[in-house]
Amino acid sequence: MGPFAKDLLQDKVVLITGGATGLGRAIAEKFLELGAKLAICGRREEVLKAAAEDMSKLGHQVYYKSCDVRDPAQVQQLVKDVEFHFGNIDVLVNNAAGNFISPTERLSHRAVDAVLNIVLHGTFYTTLEVGKRWIDQGITGTMLNIVTTYASTGSGFVVPSAAAKAGVLALTRSLAVEWAPYGIRQVAIAPGPFPTEGAWSRLSPTPEFEQKMINRVPLSRVGDPEELSNLAAYLISDYAGYINGDVITIDGGEWLKGAGQFNELLDVSDEQWDDLAKLTRKGK
Ligand code: HXC
Ligand code: NAP
Repeated sequence: MGPFAKDLLQDKVVLITGGATGLGRAIAEKFLELGAKLAICGRREEVLKAAAEDMSKLGHQVYYKSCDVRDPAQVQQLVKDVEFHFGNIDVLVNNAAGNFISPTERLSHRAVDAVLNIVLHGTFYTTLEVGKRWIDQGITGTMLNIVTTYASTGSGFVVPSAAAKAGVLALTRSLAVEWAPYGIRQVAIAPGPFPTEGAWSRLSPTPEFEQKMINRVPLSRVGDPEELSNLAAYLISDYAGYINGDVITIDGGEWLKGAGQFNELLDVSDEQWDDLAKLTRKGK
């Protein structure tokens, strides 16, 4: 049982980049359950094939194609093939990403490019390829970009990702205006920590790192992929038709805690507050 009617996304054709693993896969499964027709891509053929076979049990047959979003020629072929297979595309989900933690001064230019090319250029290429077709053919559609909370705030130690995701957020907001006259809607989701194999192996590689991550979240837990996929389903549905150019944060309040200068005072006990009250009223 979920919050939606079973036919919320009936026969909508959705292309999800990176749809075979992690959050992309959770989104894919939710969309299938709600009646969508799905195409997924990624670089690893065998991972895509296994995921597509598995997921096809949930609804329509899942179409998959290996594609490196860093290569515009591969992106062009992917979009052509998906359109040929289903007849059209209604929704593009830009979910594919690359990331890892590192002090910035340790990065080579190739390491910077590895992340920027997937996240910023890859998202731009798919957006262009699908958007041009929609505009040429007079088709309306929705683009959903998966960013991060630090797309807005920036973050040390994941700087290529922060810069690239900020670029994707700017793309979302810019096209929300420019392509609205064509009936093309832009939305984004900024997830906080959701444990996936891809993210955790590169960003939270030990239990200590994971605990630190959880400690930063006011709700004291990580996200459940189902919470994110429900949000994604709503955002691409016709019920969200008036949301355009916005980014919805789903992070248990994490970025707000990180942003406020005095947020660390969450650790002060009741007794300590009693003492502090005396100290801070001294001047009165
Ligand atoms: C420093 C690194 C590195 C690391 C790679 N490099 N990993 N440098 N620290 N951990 C350097 C390499 O040494 C090389 O530079 C250059 O980057 C390219 O490395 P390749 O391994 O050849 O790159 P490639 O095969 O293209 O792989 C791309 C990748 C990889 C981004 C490096 O991690 C990947 O495929 N990721 C995809 C999945 C992913 O990242 N998922 C997590 C998304 S989570 P030199 O100079 O040596 O040649 C997310 C938000 C999370 O985005 C927010 C959490 C709260
Ligand atoms: P993930 O499982 O590693 O997902 C990344 C996906 O992108 C993989 O399926 C990967 O497949 C694909 N991909 C990577 N490079 C690609 C390329 N060049 N071309 C095509 N596909 C490529 O990690 P995830 O946690 O689910 O992340 C999904 C999205 O959520 C990302 O946008 C990430 O930034 C965002 N996010 C995640 C979290 C979190 O806590 N998990 C938090 C904030 C934001 P291949 O390797 O087979 O190509």
